[in-house]
Amino acid sequence: MQNIVVLTGAGISAESGINTFRDANGLWEGHDVMEVASPQGWRNNPELVLDFYNQRRSQLHTVTPNKAHLDLVTLEEKFNVSIITQNVDDLHERAGSSNVIHLHGELLKVRSQFDEQLVLDWKHDLVLGDHCEHNSQLRPHIVWFGEAVPMMDQAIKITERADILMIIGTSMQVYPAAGLIQYAKHQTPVYFIDPNPAISPTEHLTVLSEKATTGVAKVVDELLG
Ligand code: OAD
Repeated sequence: MQNIVVLTGAGISAESGINTFRDANGLWEGHDVMEVASPQGWRNNPELVLDFYNQRRSQLHTVTPNKAHLDLVTLEEKFNVSIITQNVDDLHERAGSSNVIHLHGELLKVRSQFDEQLVLDWKHDLVLGDHCEHNSQLRPHIVWFGEAVPMMDQAIKITERADILMIIGTSMQVYPAAGLIQYAKHQTPVYFIDPNPAISPTEHLTVLSEKATTGVAKVVDELLG
């Protein structure tokens, strides 16, 4: 079976009702991203940061996967499909995708500040005073700006094995995620689906300037023949 690797960004979840980051004047739900998505922000105002992710977590319980998430699952009939997502939601998993890695962490997990390998499932609010077994405050399991991206090595290895690459709903502004395309083998066919695409077509790169729900359906139809 051929390997399809799919890199997704906030745009794939937009039609489920989750706002993207850069479409709203650089503000994330009314906040400067550095306030709520950086180690400095966490040190300055941990309550604000916890409250922000609590709101995102409770919103996640009210949304569902859309047709684009679901169509990607059907590719598994004929291909080995690996999803590398920059999103912290769980919509790929809920749609039924088998192999999903999260480059920027997961909203439904928290981790210890004492031991970053100590990661716990967390479905409800996280508050000051919620401690790990080492009596250290738990924090959202999110890769904040300026932090290392521990899943990057695995994502690079997966991308190197791609026979086909799909990139969906990302502004390609955040590295190292945006650099993954460079690791695909020379001449690997790439499909880029975004209503406001950040890159231009080339011989091996097809750009579909449209929303995820319609663009993914077209590519999936073509690939499944
Ligand atoms: P951005 O908000 O930067 O980009 C969203 C992309 O989605 C844009 O290119 C839009 O054109 C596109 N888009 C909007 N509606 C769409 C739709 N219906 N279908 C398809 N695409 C659509 O989001 P990301 O590129 O994912 O990091 O941002 C990367 C990272 O920056 C995020 O993971 C996040 C953020 O800071 C962390 O939280 C650590």
